Amino acid sequence: MIEADFRAVMRRFPTGVTIVTTMLEGKPKGFTANAFSSVSTEPPTVLVCVNRQARTHPLISAAGRFCVNVLRLEQQALAERFASKAIEDPFADVDMRFATTGSPVLGGTLAYLDCELAEEHSAGTHTIFLGTVIACGVSDGAPLGYFNAGYRDFGCTIP
Ligand SMILES: Cc1cc2nc3c(=O)[nH]c(=O)nc-3n(C[C@H](O)[C@H](O)[C@H](O)COP(=O)(O)O)c2cc1C
Repeated sequence: MIEADFRAVMRRFPTGVTIVTTMLEGKPKGFTANAFSSVSTEPPTVLVCVNRQARTHPLISAAGRFCVNVLRLEQQALAERFASKAIEDPFADVDMRFATTGSPVLGGTLAYLDCELAEEHSAGTHTIFLGTVIACGVSDGAPLGYFNAGYRDFGCTIP
């Protein structure tokens, strides 16, 4: 089965973990994502691949903006919370502010990229959202990693 082999390969590719947020009609929304990549520096462009079943999917399309929040090692509980369909409001008690586009920037993250939605491309079950980076920021610390279907400590840090 090519699908099983494909999954086995992708489990061997280590990634960071992000929470992609957006804001529509005064309501914040977000979900945990690791299908995230840099695309271009001029202009600064990133992509996120979002399942069309995700409740956040139509909101990013409609809002025309999103923010990629790169999680710190200590934020695994936040990643779990934003990956759960069972939690009514994952933003409850979460420290956040609003970026230039109005998308939520979560507190305590390692970095963020505030993006205007530039393009959407359909691919299989997912949509590739391309975003032009309008604002971004960093802080120091260790990243939350993901490898072989589990959260990991990659043992590295930006001091
Ligand atoms: C580590 C991790 C990475 C994930 N990456 C993605 C991703 O890149 N794209 C995606 O569509 N779903 C991804 N998911 C699944 C979503 O987080 C999950 O389906 C979530 O419930 C969607 O929330 P929503 O329906 O409220 O938008 C990931 C889940 C985990 C745990």
